[in-house]
Amino acid sequence: MRPYFIIISLILIISGIYLTYIDIQWAWSFVFIVPLILLGLYDSFQRPNNVWRNFPWVGHLKSIFVDSREMAQDWFLENDREGRPFNWVQREIIYKRADDVSQEDPFGTQFNYYKPGYEWFLHSAAPLQHDDEDIRISVGGPDCKQPYSSSILNVSAMSFGSISKNATMALNGGAKLGNFASNTGEGGLTEYHLHYGGDLVFQFGTAYFGCRDGNGNFDEKLFAETSQHPNVKMVEMKISQGAKPGYGAVLPGLKNTPEIAKIRCVTPYETIISPAGHTTFKTPVELMYFVKKMRDLSNGKPIGFKFCIGQPYEFLAICKAMIKTGIMPDFITIDGGEGGTGAAPFDSLNWVGTPAEEALVYAHDALTGFDLKKHIKLFVGGKVISGFHIVKYLALGADACYSARGMMFALGCVQALQCNENTCPSGVTTMNPKLEHGLNPEDKKVKVMNFHHNTIKAVKDMVGAGGLTSTKGLNRKYIAKRVSANKIQTLDQVFPYPETGCLLTNTYPERWAKDMAMADPDNFHPTDWDFVEMEQSELQPQLQ
Ligand SMILES: Cc1cc2nc3c(=O)[nH]c(=O)nc-3n(C[C@H](O)[C@H](O)[C@H](O)COP(=O)(O)O)c2cc1C
Repeated sequence: MRPYFIIISLILIISGIYLTYIDIQWAWSFVFIVPLILLGLYDSFQRPNNVWRNFPWVGHLKSIFVDSREMAQDWFLENDREGRPFNWVQREIIYKRADDVSQEDPFGTQFNYYKPGYEWFLHSAAPLQHDDEDIRISVGGPDCKQPYSSSILNVSAMSFGSISKNATMALNGGAKLGNFASNTGEGGLTEYHLHYGGDLVFQFGTAYFGCRDGNGNFDEKLFAETSQHPNVKMVEMKISQGAKPGYGAVLPGLKNTPEIAKIRCVTPYETIISPAGHTTFKTPVELMYFVKKMRDLSNGKPIGFKFCIGQPYEFLAICKAMIKTGIMPDFITIDGGEGGTGAAPFDSLNWVGTPAEEALVYAHDALTGFDLKKHIKLFVGGKVISGFHIVKYLALGADACYSARGMMFALGCVQALQCNENTCPSGVTTMNPKLEHGLNPEDKKVKVMNFHHNTIKAVKDMVGAGGLTSTKGLNRKYIAKRVSANKIQTLDQVFPYPETGCLLTNTYPERWAKDMAMADPDNFHPTDWDFVEMEQSELQPQLQ
């Protein structure tokens, strides 16, 4: 036992006895002295916490400071460029755009233009005016019966359960006001998604919430019913998500309320971990047949899947399966490893999944190489919060972007980093009605719309500054990157474009050779890493 603890305890006891002896009124001091000494004794003898055991009483100060560390950093200590995952400069521009107040900043940039990795847009000496009031793209390949005219910025998947009902309603309400789409996330389609009547992307994942039978398998009837709902404009199957690719999604028990449990057909208050992989397909070719099934069941709505690239040859295997079967999705959503989540295992959050930029380029170039890009739209998500991010992703090859955390900030998220604890102070990621109360969907839907509107305006202004009248004119030459202290390259030098159709011949560029050899449309896991040889005749284009 620590000497200081023994000495202070003795002093307290003797003082208490002495004061009580002088005046009986001081007996109340034992109300504090006894619990304090009991706490010190408990600290000294308990085993789980080393610091408390070594430093009775004092050790608790460390626990208090550690618990309030993030808040203290965020509120008092961090400078404008330090916060993670989003710093104050990034958050502030979203808050300003959501509030629809002046978005001008004084004095000069706070970013370091000379830091390796820094990127900027190459403008023109003769700027023009972007001529499209409401930039949109058409999603739907040759087999799609109900193409969707989509905004280039939409609300990324966030399930009801990971976010509150008020947040769900506000996002959909914002989408309705601003004419864009919100993605249901993998927790099923609920009344809150339908409340304001905004366009929806119906998403499901490996647990098939929203379209599963009693055994957790894909339920065709339920899927048909849900996907054919008039508000559902597109369907997105989540194969993997940047924050936890290859891992099952996690719904912490605390957030699994009876309402959520009923929607998802699970037991309330249990932590629900979805399976890591799908049961509806096991090979790239089976994936394509499942795409066809979804298309038929949804009555021809645009069908896509969300994918975080891991082994690059798997993406090529999927492309080969498209060629082999003649079936292809209408869109693919590329999610970067830097993407957000309500809850994910630490290692997957930090060290699994290709970042959005490289993944997008790979997907775009592979689809171009197989001459499939003309039929398939690419959506991308990964820290999209500003006009520049959208311009950069469009220049790299995306057709449209998704934002999850940007939209959360528009709802009033303060980056408290408590999404998995049901204690979110802004009411965005909590099922606690008292905290949810703070987020009023009627007000917040307007903020979501404002954020979308002002961000699209920033895209148009930047594209105009580049001497273009349409985002369609963007390409990799428009973005410069400081690749090292004294070297700058444009993104077409960093990521050279492939020839259209080059992967349909035997003479594709060397950089594709290994992945092409590995990519097997009938197997995600090639059996022999060194000797997988594909018959090139299998790759002859069946799609024109
Ligand atoms: C609270 C929260 C819940 C999410 N839920 C889902 C989900 O249900 N399905 C999914 O595919 N992605 C989900 N995501 C990931 C986002 O849709 C998105 O892919 C990722 O956060 C990258 O976008 P961002 O950087 O704009 O946040 C979630 C993200 C957050 C922050």
